[in-house]
Amino acid sequence: MEKQRLKFDFLIHDLKVPLAVIEAGVRSLLEKQDKYGVLSEKQEKILLRALRNAKVTSTLVNDALELGRSSEGIMNKSRCSIASFVEQSLIEIFDLTESHSADLTKVCRDLNELKKNLFQKSIQLEIDESIWKQEVYIDESKIRQIFRNLLNNALKYRKNLIEIKLAKSAAALDISVRDDGQGIPRELHEKIFKCYFQMDMQNDQCVRGHGLGLAGVMILLEDMGGRMTLESDTGKGTVFSVTIPL
Ligand SMILES: Nc1ncnc2c1ncn2[C@@H]1O[C@H](COP(=O)(O)OP(=O)(O)OP(=O)(O)O)[C@@H](O)[C@H]1O
Ligand SMILES: [Mg+2]
Repeated sequence: MEKQRLKFDFLIHDLKVPLAVIEAGVRSLLEKQDKYGVLSEKQEKILLRALRNAKVTSTLVNDALELGRSSEGIMNKSRCSIASFVEQSLIEIFDLTESHSADLTKVCRDLNELKKNLFQKSIQLEIDESIWKQEVYIDESKIRQIFRNLLNNALKYRKNLIEIKLAKSAAALDISVRDDGQGIPRELHEKIFKCYFQMDMQNDQCVRGHGLGLAGVMILLEDMGGRMTLESDTGKGTVFSVTIPL
């Protein structure tokens, strides 16, 4: 690994401990009020926001390290059920924006209950019950990172609806995320995968990101031998479909 890159990864790596300390501290204040003192409603709100943001930062740190590992060809495969990686990804996403939905997802007892909860948020989850509990041998944190990025984009750019489809064959896992947003004109289909590229959006209220998510997804997919296709055009919504070999 080149020296500059190693220095950078090392710096990111060293952010993990202080972040964990901040997170644990805030969590203790929130969860052990009998020991550390009762919080007012306002204090609790501020601490919850601090906790959410500490979590956002740790997710970013882990994602950055995962990209570094991936470009070195390091895979960390294990057996995990499709249910677990989908649920975990959803919890991670909701944790950052709407902790109530994260809590609801955590206590879902089965696929039907999860589908119902998501449907309330205009997210349709399509997956066969028979696949839901099946295990796959994958690098779970990379797949979660891919799924989170696609879903985050769909949440950011949709008008109303999102449709998530998951399918599995002996050879591959297929994940597709569709939204009904403004779509991506054909002439930009290559550009949006480049680092830092962002389209001018019609809806300026959108929380803007950094134009790095899709470029990162492409790196992870390349390293796993996977591929991604994009179906979209102006006014036609967007579908990103990912195929990951098993
Ligand atoms: N589902 C989508 N619908 C419409 N445009 C999209 C969609 N997904 C991505 N784009 C366009 O592609 C650009 C690049 O996406 P990418 O995920 O790489 O970056 P981002 O979402 O802007 O920021 P971040 O680094 O936080 O992911 C976006 O800025 C947006 O213009
Ligand atoms: Mg993005």
